[in-house]
Amino acid sequence: MNWRLVPLVSAGLLIVAGGFSTGGVQAHSKMAVQTSANRASVSEPAPKKAEEQFKNIQVLKGIPADELFPTMQFITASLGVECEFCHVHGAFEKDDKKPKQTARKMMEMMFAINKDNFEGHREVTCYSCHRGSTHPVAIPVVMTEEPKEGMAEPHGPDAGAKKEEAKESAGPTADQLLDKYVQAAGGAPAIDKITSRVMKGTIDFGGKSLPIDIYSKDPDKRISFTHMPDGDSVTAFNGQEGWLGMPGRPVREMHGSDLDAASIDADLHLATHLKQMFSQTRVAGTEKIGDREAYKVLGQREAKPPIILYFDKQSGLLVRLVRYGETALGWLPTQIDYADYRDANGVKVPYRWTLARPSGRFTIQVSEMKQNVPVDDAKFVKPPSPEPPKGPAK
Ligand code: HEC
Ligand code: HEC
Repeated sequence: MNWRLVPLVSAGLLIVAGGFSTGGVQAHSKMAVQTSANRASVSEPAPKKAEEQFKNIQVLKGIPADELFPTMQFITASLGVECEFCHVHGAFEKDDKKPKQTARKMMEMMFAINKDNFEGHREVTCYSCHRGSTHPVAIPVVMTEEPKEGMAEPHGPDAGAKKEEAKESAGPTADQLLDKYVQAAGGAPAIDKITSRVMKGTIDFGGKSLPIDIYSKDPDKRISFTHMPDGDSVTAFNGQEGWLGMPGRPVREMHGSDLDAASIDADLHLATHLKQMFSQTRVAGTEKIGDREAYKVLGQREAKPPIILYFDKQSGLLVRLVRYGETALGWLPTQIDYADYRDANGVKVPYRWTLARPSGRFTIQVSEMKQNVPVDDAKFVKPPSPEPPKGPAK
């Protein structure tokens, strides 16, 4: 596998690495995303369906076409396999491989289990049984070492919630924690004064280290350039659209959950925007992150997966953010750990963060940072996409 393509970016480029031509992935026109300016009013045109874009969809009919790749990533993460476990290289529509046929039956089974037993709620997913293996374990294991405390702790958005209900009255409320975070980060006036941020640093993944430049500009614009031997890898969001670029390849548009994630990363005033992002918030206990205790806050959003925030018990700063990408079969998690907070223009900014997904992780360490410097808007102009293919008339 080509190391350059590994964990830097999401769905798109991994698929390119797998040899799949993404020619067909030009979906509908612009998709309105929530930005800080219009977080309340989201309007999205009716998305194209998977079966309209792909050749051989039998079970996942009706899901948005944009969700197909994340859904495939959910499957690979759940079974611990590569795309080729089920797919013929370069001909994803073919049904030659047995596991692909089995996977269709498994989807039907999963939907039936949830329908018949959990009132249609997606309680059981591929991962519930498979746990990163093609062969689910049916027999309990014997105890080979002394039990560690917390070993069987559940994880996921609601983990720890029940345990915490009893002592909830004692600790701070979610609102208090969000307020404390704003204070810890410098206070709303100082945070809102930041209009741009330019960072230089390194991105480390899979034993490699490459220089990276990141430009952010209010409102909700962000672009990063990872300097690779043969050119720049680009991840960008301009307030409405997001795109990914690799040297020598056409840009790929971001869709669905990737756009949602990009808009969060691009927000220079996230701390002061958190409250309005959520329809409901709840403290779901405390957890150890590294050697420090953190409060876990569950933020529900309208029509989107929740976001989980972890605030350092002492400093009040955001030390971890977990968000989920929607797929047809379950949520795909992304975890970002923030560290090395430093003072800059009266605000606290993390100089290091690690982003982890089921498919890989990377760490960015900032070495130089400037804020409130001019950043040319031309940086955030999306390069032209390749011509959409002339598919069969519909
Ligand atoms: C465990 C088996 C499995 C794995 C692993 C898997 N897929 Fe799939 N894939 C399927 C099944 C099953 C379908 C058909 C779904 C349906 O009929 O509704 C499908 C359909 C597709 C299609 C639509 C093809 C067409 O034109 O009809 C694409 C594209 C695709 N997968 C890409 C991927 C990619 C990329 C990966 C790796 C990230 C991947 N798949 C991993 C089982 C798998
Ligand atoms: C209720 C438990 C359960 C769920 C949920 C489940 N599976 Fe399975 N799956 C199994 C079992 C058990 C087997 C058989 C494994 C064996 O033969 O050892 C299996 C086998 C498979 C195989 C064949 C593996 C091989 O080596 O050929 C595939 C592919 C697969 N599952 C995909 C999926 C996908 C995709 C999902 C989610 C849509 C899913 N499964 C959900 C229990 C489950």
